[in-house]
Amino acid sequence: MVKLEENVSLKAYNTFGINAKAKYLCHVTTVDQLVDLLHSPIFKKERHYILGGGSNVLFTKDFDGLIIKDEIKGIETVSETDTHIVVRVSAGENWHQFVLHAVANDWGGIENLSLIPGTVGAAPMQNIGAYGVEIKNLIERVEAIELSTGRLKTFSNEECAFGYRESVFKRELAKKYFISSVTLRLSKKDHQFNTTYGALQETLKEMNVTHTTIQSISDAVIHIRKSKLPDPVVIGNAGSFFKNPTIDVKQFESLQNLHSTIPGYSIDNQNIKVPAGWLIEQCGWKGKRINNVGVHPQQALVLVNYGNGSGAEILNLSEKIQVSVMEEFQIKLTPEVNIL
Ligand code: EPU
Repeated sequence: MVKLEENVSLKAYNTFGINAKAKYLCHVTTVDQLVDLLHSPIFKKERHYILGGGSNVLFTKDFDGLIIKDEIKGIETVSETDTHIVVRVSAGENWHQFVLHAVANDWGGIENLSLIPGTVGAAPMQNIGAYGVEIKNLIERVEAIELSTGRLKTFSNEECAFGYRESVFKRELAKKYFISSVTLRLSKKDHQFNTTYGALQETLKEMNVTHTTIQSISDAVIHIRKSKLPDPVVIGNAGSFFKNPTIDVKQFESLQNLHSTIPGYSIDNQNIKVPAGWLIEQCGWKGKRINNVGVHPQQALVLVNYGNGSGAEILNLSEKIQVSVMEEFQIKLTPEVNIL
């Protein structure tokens, strides 16, 4: 039986650095351990939350239940041809370490997703994306354990029903599965580089890159992220706090009449995605600090904990921002972070 810790501080287990406590915490390092836990009385009795790297969660109070910390490790090659490799990665592997492993082996596809905090298992959950690439484009399948039975189920890419920062695991099957591994198909040659994102193009130019490689894209992405996004080890944060909202073309055009510089990216003929960071900045929040928490000075979409902030303070700040953006733009901001 796996060991349970009681009354544990979660400060080291969430990148916001919130000092909430969990009634129970359990580190799971193998699928067998997880299945044992699922059949135990404590799992049946207590509410639970599965935690990966803790980089997309806000604890607003102590957690009165069982935190299952996913630490299942392993990387294996499933199949390989001249042009592609299919790799199965256990969910508890650190995402960025795996990206570095792929870059070092010259496996292409995930270099734009360098330096995203969190674990591999969390990647399909919210379809992580950055600089023009989403993980859904590389995923072959996801293996997950059904929490009510302990049975393993394999989800095809289609069955994961990916959307923008969304998947079946966040919607219809929320809280029903524990993702145990992710299988990705990466290129070994004739890599399809994605350098369409403005900031990425500019950075590659600044770095005098004339011959694009997986390594150079990864380096550029790391450079951009380090310059814009606060390092959670130094200042607590969970990346983008809100999703970028989608509005219809009519609303976008009427906002354009009032705010001529409003940026927007067409999604289809009817819908436009607007950067939440811009909306928040326009409302005057960028760089603002309220006691222990604030809005990051370089990227208004990121809320930060300057040290001893509580989850409730962050939540309070986020609600104030939502009210401002609603009043100014009639746009509802939805958190990207899981609020507990
Ligand atoms: N902007 C501002 N002020 C700000 C921030 C952004 O005006 O303070 C505007 C600018 O017009 C800028 C545009 O927003 O050109 C886009 O900004 P950025 O490139 O920083 O991207 P984002 O839309 O704010 C998204 C993801 C990030 C991802 C970047 C890069 C979401 C919710 N966030 O942010 O993902 O790294 O694109 O692709 O989609 C995360 O999910 O935690 C995350 C960091």
